[in-house]
Amino acid sequence: MADPSSSKRLLVTSALPYANGPIHIGHLAGAYLPADLFVRYQRLKGRDVAYICGSDEMGVAVLMRAIREDRSPEEIVDTYHAQIKESFERFGMSFDYYGRTTSELHEETAQDFFRVLDEKDVFNLKTEEQLYDPEAEMFLADRFVIGTCPVCGFDEAYGDQCEKCGSTLSPTELENPRSTLTDATPELKETTHWYLPLEEMQPALEEWIDTHPEWKNNVLGQIQSWFDDELKDRAITRDVPWGVPVPADVAGRHGLDAEGKVIYVWFDAPIGYISFTKEWALEHNAPTKWKAYWQDEDTELVHFIGKDNIVFHCLTFPAMLMAHDDFTLPDNVPANEFLNLEGRKLSTSRGWAVWLHEYLDEFGDERGPDLLRYALATTLPETKDADFSWEDFQRRVNGELADVLGNYVNRTLTFAHRYFDGEVPPLDDPSDADEAMLDRIAETPAAVGNAYEQYRMREAVYETIDLAREGNKYFNDTEPWHTHDTDPQACANTIHVSLQVCASLAVLIEPVIPDAAQRLQDMLNLTNVRSSTPGDDPEGAIEWDDAAEPLLGAGHTLGEPEILFEKLDDDIIEAQIEKLRERAAEQDSDSTDSDMDYDDLKDNISFDDFMELDLRVGTITAADPVPDADKLLRLDVDLGFEERQILAGIAEQMEPDAVVDTQVVVVANMAPKEMFGLQSEGMVLMAEEPDGTFVPVTADAENGSVVR
Ligand code: MF3
Ligand code: ZN
Repeated sequence: MADPSSSKRLLVTSALPYANGPIHIGHLAGAYLPADLFVRYQRLKGRDVAYICGSDEMGVAVLMRAIREDRSPEEIVDTYHAQIKESFERFGMSFDYYGRTTSELHEETAQDFFRVLDEKDVFNLKTEEQLYDPEAEMFLADRFVIGTCPVCGFDEAYGDQCEKCGSTLSPTELENPRSTLTDATPELKETTHWYLPLEEMQPALEEWIDTHPEWKNNVLGQIQSWFDDELKDRAITRDVPWGVPVPADVAGRHGLDAEGKVIYVWFDAPIGYISFTKEWALEHNAPTKWKAYWQDEDTELVHFIGKDNIVFHCLTFPAMLMAHDDFTLPDNVPANEFLNLEGRKLSTSRGWAVWLHEYLDEFGDERGPDLLRYALATTLPETKDADFSWEDFQRRVNGELADVLGNYVNRTLTFAHRYFDGEVPPLDDPSDADEAMLDRIAETPAAVGNAYEQYRMREAVYETIDLAREGNKYFNDTEPWHTHDTDPQACANTIHVSLQVCASLAVLIEPVIPDAAQRLQDMLNLTNVRSSTPGDDPEGAIEWDDAAEPLLGAGHTLGEPEILFEKLDDDIIEAQIEKLRERAAEQDSDSTDSDMDYDDLKDNISFDDFMELDLRVGTITAADPVPDADKLLRLDVDLGFEERQILAGIAEQMEPDAVVDTQVVVVANMAPKEMFGLQSEGMVLMAEEPDGTFVPVTADAENGSVVR
């Protein structure tokens, strides 16, 4: 019964989570729940879907956690892989396969991929001096080195990125580099690495991206700014002791020793999508079945990710696939923005997060998943960052799930049991209101489906619940409790039509709240609905499009009604907010106890050094976000004698509106610097509190006053 125009096979992936920590709601809102809604909808449509994911286990992030906790990387990935896999299952993620990149087949697949590109001479090999820690006897890649950011001067920038201004860096660009392993000052040592030649591939990538004007704006915008900055070749090997080994024969082709060299995690991990599709095929005793999903033009490939993964899924992985030439390219990459929590950026190190496994322990495996799925699905950061709050969660559950959906189902079924012996009464001579409601049922599957197809999940969920809202209104307007005495057929019609609304809802709501949908199907005695989870479905099962038609015949016997959703009391919500606050405070005081708390004092400077600084009072007159620079705000600052444009790395801590009209102290003789195509002419002083909040250093004085 599937629509032939969309009969292409579907391969859907969610970003492979790093197996170095548990899953939180930010992950769910970015790459997991939207994908699960999408694939469940597609399965109900009758499409052939493979939904593939797994743990990202071979990267530096894992190695760092292992070193920090003095455990082996194997122990880290075993622990977190098991935990992540289990909490995903409890949450109702409907992967067809969930693998791990430590598997043998993955190693082989990644190495083969690497070998093919090497033999095609795709890579550039470069020999360069790189930072080497003589104490740890290790090259310091990425986050193994910190130092001063050459762009903004932040003195704890990482070797791959400055967290303050967002600039992408390479370790040798850092000023005053230090090893995060030993604190040693690194030496320079020569080493050879393989580079993916993104620079020369840019035109081909641009041409390909041009064929996808339908992609989301936030995705195309980010891609465009990467193109504007011009792609640079990227090293795709590393000298670190954890990762997929560079194959000896490939190194040998270049007269090199593979010893100690591994493939960079961002090269191997996306290949995991391929390895896991192979493993899934093997699990189904159809070893070559994976090819249809990766090599057949008749398959649509969709990657669900968070916005920090855009460059890898829209540029580097496609570049790899193009160079390899045996695989299809992604058809869409519907990346989401970030989810904040109670108005603040999620931070795992600061304890500002809601962990999935803890949530499930507290809210229960039975009712917990649906409540969180619904609350998140209606809050997804689809076009811009969004905020999750516990009060909003309560409003969604009580006001929408319980009051709108649950109440509607309950009153309809209770009425049918009380007055119609638990059977669907016949429809006869329907009124305009009855017809209008039946029309509404007829339109809904296509309307909701269209929103899912366009990756507008929030809208899809809204449209679905709106059917229940309309149903409630129809029930009120037709007043069956009156017509029961005055016009029994009109009463029968109301209940007949309302039961059809409930039956359609029981199908259409399944992607969002699968457990409640199942319970509703049971209450209606609606059997034979196609499952939205993997598995074969019986011929003739009810599918998505069938929910446009009345699904229950007159005389059909209903099941027993039960309460679909209990309301959440205030104290449950308050306890969650309290827990969050406590944990954040704990993290803060933890850091007060440790020597991490106060920054080390810097070396003494002379009075003359201080006099070199020209500090002035100014007033911020305007503040705007800087496109593509998540951390920066562009400020206009009135210094009395002139107006300056200053870029400040405060966007994650402060809203533009909150800083306008604030008087601040400015370093007025800071050498101008260009960032993201804008000049910054000075620096605004801020005090950073232990929890990372910024407090402006203010002075209630005339603009232009000298601070000394
Ligand atoms: N582990 C990465 C992250 O959490 C995502 C990897 S996606 C893959 O950001 F494509 F590389 F697998
Ligand atoms: Zn910086």
